[in-house]
Amino acid sequence: MRRQKVYSEIFPITTPVEKVMARAPRGIILTGRSSDGALASREAVSRCAKELLASGMPLLVIGSELDWLMEELNKEGTPGLLHSLPGGLESLAEPGGGQVLEKFVLSICRCQPTWTMESFIEASIQEIKAEVGKQPVVCGLSGGVDSSVAAALVHRAIGDQLKSIFVDHGFMRKYEAEQVIDTFQKRFGKSFIAVDAKERFFALVKGVTDPEEKRKRIGEEFIRVFEEEAAKLGEIRYLVQGTVYPDVVESGAGQGALVKSHHNVGGLPEKMDFQLLEPLRWLFKDEVREVARQLGLPDELIWRQPFPGPGLAVRIVGEVTPAKVAILQEADYILRQEIARAGLERDIWQYFAVLTDTRTVGVRNQQRTYGYMVGIRAVNSIDGMTASWVHLPYDVLERVSSRIMEEIPEISRVVYDISSKPPATIEWE
Ligand code: XMP
Repeated sequence: MRRQKVYSEIFPITTPVEKVMARAPRGIILTGRSSDGALASREAVSRCAKELLASGMPLLVIGSELDWLMEELNKEGTPGLLHSLPGGLESLAEPGGGQVLEKFVLSICRCQPTWTMESFIEASIQEIKAEVGKQPVVCGLSGGVDSSVAAALVHRAIGDQLKSIFVDHGFMRKYEAEQVIDTFQKRFGKSFIAVDAKERFFALVKGVTDPEEKRKRIGEEFIRVFEEEAAKLGEIRYLVQGTVYPDVVESGAGQGALVKSHHNVGGLPEKMDFQLLEPLRWLFKDEVREVARQLGLPDELIWRQPFPGPGLAVRIVGEVTPAKVAILQEADYILRQEIARAGLERDIWQYFAVLTDTRTVGVRNQQRTYGYMVGIRAVNSIDGMTASWVHLPYDVLERVSSRIMEEIPEISRVVYDISSKPPATIEWE
């Protein structure tokens, strides 16, 4: 529907009908199956459908799981309002499938196809201005797509009234911190604050080998640094967050708890006394990217892979040291270059190198060496909850491996990770 430029929202079938009606819909589409394949209870579906029809809502019923509902409703007779697409969501891709949806949305519900990212940006700017007035706003920039786009949008609305803080913990990929700083200094000028906290973080993880302990220390310190910087700005009323629509839907449906708690690590303070400003909360990822494009953000940022809050620290097995980070950055950079050269950048959800704490024997210039073993990981995923390893072409793997071993003397072995999630996680720690 959104691709047809018509705005839509998703609710679980158990949502009280009043709550749905409060959003002033023009029509309702019912599907019998949620994205994780769960079937709704018949009683809930039947009650919801009847209440909606009774209040005069046009209803489109999708999927053969709801055949019984169509029969039930047809018997009771509600001509004109009731429509169906028995083939289900899959049939939208088939000839004629899209037309049923289009006819329902445009002719029956009489929606106007006006939902575009231009109109979204315009409306958001007005809303943000009206909401925050003259009050001070702060944003934590991680360099990820969502927080960057949220900040850029708010900045478009209120300019330097927004202060953006980027904490460099030293565990970013090669050149990445520099890129973030360069992009946002140019864009935001003095209202962009970059904090070099590398030494603090390195001191904090020194000698720590337990993965959970590493994550915990980094997460807590991150918040502390952010709070310190925010405190220097005086009183702050609003905190910008890059929450996107799937996060909203997931938390409503009680799914995705694990990934969400992860995501809060790099993200922010529950105890802080801010109002949250979440300008992307109605957008799907492809829409966020389109907004980014229209706001003129650089491509490497728009297409950035998901990246864990604790960064390379969870891609170094065992103790993290500045020297190990430097080695991993080089290996990871070579992988990224070769993936780009093979034109695979946008086809893979995540690809990265891992520095293990295993050392193995090798030979270099007729000398025995004893260097680190590096793991290469590439996975495809929809939402990070499950993932399958990518069958990278052998010639790409070969170039990656020989370049890593040639160019990085500390590495004497390269292995390819062929584990899917579950049971393996995407990150090694
Ligand atoms: P796992 O390793 O749990 O990762 O299979 C699932 C997805 O989440 C990312 N990830 C994180 N993202 N903070 C984040 O913002 C974190 O602490 C974190 N840990 C894992 C991971 O890269 C993958 O996309």
